[in-house]
Amino acid sequence: LPDIRSAEIAGKTVLVRADLNVPLKNGIVADATRIVRFAPTVRDLLARGAKVVVMTHLGRPDGDANPIYSVRPVTATLSSEVGREVVFVPDCVGSTAEKAARHHHDGKVLLLENLRFHKGEEANSRNFALRLSVNGDLFVNDAFSCAHRAHASTHAIAQIMPAYAGPSLLAEVAALTAALDAPRRPVAALVGGAKVSSKIRVLKHLIGRMDHLIIGGGMGNTFLAASGYRVGRSIHEPECVSIARDIMETAAANGCRILLPSDVTVARMFEAEALATTVPVAAVPDEAMALDVGPRTVAEIKEVLNACRTLLWNGPLGAFEMRPFGDATFAVARHAAALSKAGQLATIAGGGDTAAALSMAGVADQITYLSTAGGAFLEWLEGCHLPGIEVLRKRVENSETV
Ligand code: 3PG
Repeated sequence: LPDIRSAEIAGKTVLVRADLNVPLKNGIVADATRIVRFAPTVRDLLARGAKVVVMTHLGRPDGDANPIYSVRPVTATLSSEVGREVVFVPDCVGSTAEKAARHHHDGKVLLLENLRFHKGEEANSRNFALRLSVNGDLFVNDAFSCAHRAHASTHAIAQIMPAYAGPSLLAEVAALTAALDAPRRPVAALVGGAKVSSKIRVLKHLIGRMDHLIIGGGMGNTFLAASGYRVGRSIHEPECVSIARDIMETAAANGCRILLPSDVTVARMFEAEALATTVPVAAVPDEAMALDVGPRTVAEIKEVLNACRTLLWNGPLGAFEMRPFGDATFAVARHAAALSKAGQLATIAGGGDTAAALSMAGVADQITYLSTAGGAFLEWLEGCHLPGIEVLRKRVENSETV
């Protein structure tokens, strides 16, 4: 990929696509992880003499300039992370943006208003991309977590102006490529979470590549149902049961060992401090739901991880957001973090829930790599080509053939 770190940028205006789509609570940034991760990119561009204009989306305003989706609240956090004044520009195109981009700076950073306030963004409109492009001399995509979207600011714009990949996008691609294409073996994938049908393609792609597949959460319940167990009222997707059976057969034929829960923590209600008991998977009462995997399963997972060199993790093992159903996820997270710190295991995790669970376990900064991407991480695990990355790759190919 064309790397902005090897481009000549002194005195130029760099238009950077970031993903500052962060959660807001009462107009205040509730989780600054994406801003913290992005700040070094801005600092590096400034240090190399560039002027920086940042663009991002926030939420899904569907082309309407709805003020609840304004990027303005991000300004202060970005400014304190970068250590420079950040000036908020109330539109990303048109005369307001153009004037600001032409006359701004004196070391200040510009932050443009939400790209998705314009329908042209999600329509991947070339015309809208042209209007964005006048705000800079060079385009940098530093938003891996938006690379699965073919939008004007991730795709069309890269075809009409000099386009490069930013350092955090490159770091994501390097971490995921290392884990998926050339991992230190044995390699395990842990896949959990409540969404089953949308993740089953991930499992299909992983079976030929992993030595171990550890399955928990709603996905685990679906596989237990496919293995003939009664799962009571547990989250599972009956329409995925036959695909789960196919996956188990293909895995066996490919030397990929699947670890399913052997015990689960069940409750009648999904409530904080609900009366919870641990039962073997063969004894889930019809009126109960499995909300976490049990301690025996945790011990089995730890044993697999002790023997592995790489772990790819997406999705919690249980309903971690409510006590006590996070116990298994937190225990496995702490174990993986300890192995990672000891240099024994490279742990690469991604997805919104996984990041939240690792942070609740207190180990988000102790694993090898934590991706801030949700959908893009999953699509990468499915083996999809991400349009925001492909368009940058094509630019390199084209420039080599010219
Ligand atoms: C994300 O949070 O995964 C990215 O910001 C993409 O957001 P989107 O799913 O609304 O395109």
